[in-house]
Amino acid sequence: MNAKRAIPVREKNIVLIGFMGVGKTTIGKLVAEKLYRDFIDIDQEIERDFQMSIPEMFTQKGEAFFRKTEKEYIVHMCEHTKGKIVSLGGGSFQQEEIRKKCLEHCFVIFLDLTWENWKERIDLLLENRPILHNRSIEQVKQLFNERKSIYALHHLRVETDNLSAEEVADCIVDALNPGGELYQS
Ligand code: S3P
Repeated sequence: MNAKRAIPVREKNIVLIGFMGVGKTTIGKLVAEKLYRDFIDIDQEIERDFQMSIPEMFTQKGEAFFRKTEKEYIVHMCEHTKGKIVSLGGGSFQQEEIRKKCLEHCFVIFLDLTWENWKERIDLLLENRPILHNRSIEQVKQLFNERKSIYALHHLRVETDNLSAEEVADCIVDALNPGGELYQS
């Protein structure tokens, strides 16, 4: 017999995934306000604890160190917190352990955006996203497509093209149906 209890989604962390610059942090904060929940941005937690920005961490300690650190923080969040709204760095879901933990413990929402709309934002992102440095636009597009197949593992997808952050947050809140009960086994 499967004795696993269906868990109301309101008891789980809600995790936002998607490509860098899609609006995970802005939208996550809005969802947290609307649902009266705490918000955690994993990259901001790392920056605060290590007293350095993510680009500085890439330069001073290397990407491998950053990836190991983000894995530790995300696994800890999955295992030790609940009921929070969490924004993940766009590359984190490429790590299998992170994917597994999030999909097992959390309600994972993929914020989707088409390449055509994403590429309009690239100039705003360049300075603070070391992953974009030394890559041609074709290489960034390839990464975008590779990651899209990884983000395909989720519990809910929200198309964000042509929507404001506020509208996306409202879509998420409606989908979670806080007045009723959304259960997940
Ligand atoms: C990264 C995305 C960034 C940050 C780091 C690496 C990536 O987060 O974690 O620069 O590999 O896509 P955002 O998705 O919040 O930009």
